Amino acid sequence: MKSLNELNELKKKAQEYMNLREGKEIARVTVAMGTCGIAAGAREVLTAVMDEIKKRNLQQITVTQTSCPGRCSEEPIVIVEMDGQKVMYGKMDAEKARKMVVQHLVNKTICSEWVI
Ligand code: FES
Repeated sequence: MKSLNELNELKKKAQEYMNLREGKEIARVTVAMGTCGIAAGAREVLTAVMDEIKKRNLQQITVTQTSCPGRCSEEPIVIVEMDGQKVMYGKMDAEKARKMVVQHLVNKTICSEWVI
């Protein structure tokens, strides 16, 4: 478990990626950061999502966090809202998160193998 300072730093980073200007958000990525999510690696998943979005200079995508979605066995969980669809991915890791950014956010194709 990382310290509260590290988690706060991560939260701050996530907020920096929030792009809510004039409602022009085109997608929202939410990482579940409840206790069991963090224990399962949600912090690494969130970092990977933010890094990949930054690396690809993707715009108008909000990255945010939520608490416990109540599905412990599926953690880490990532929810992507885009084009009127809400997709929940389970058992994510950093590598899957990076692939999800490319496949879902860039290529607009749901990663069906990870959907829960
Ligand atoms: S304790 Fe909340 S999802 Fe596990």
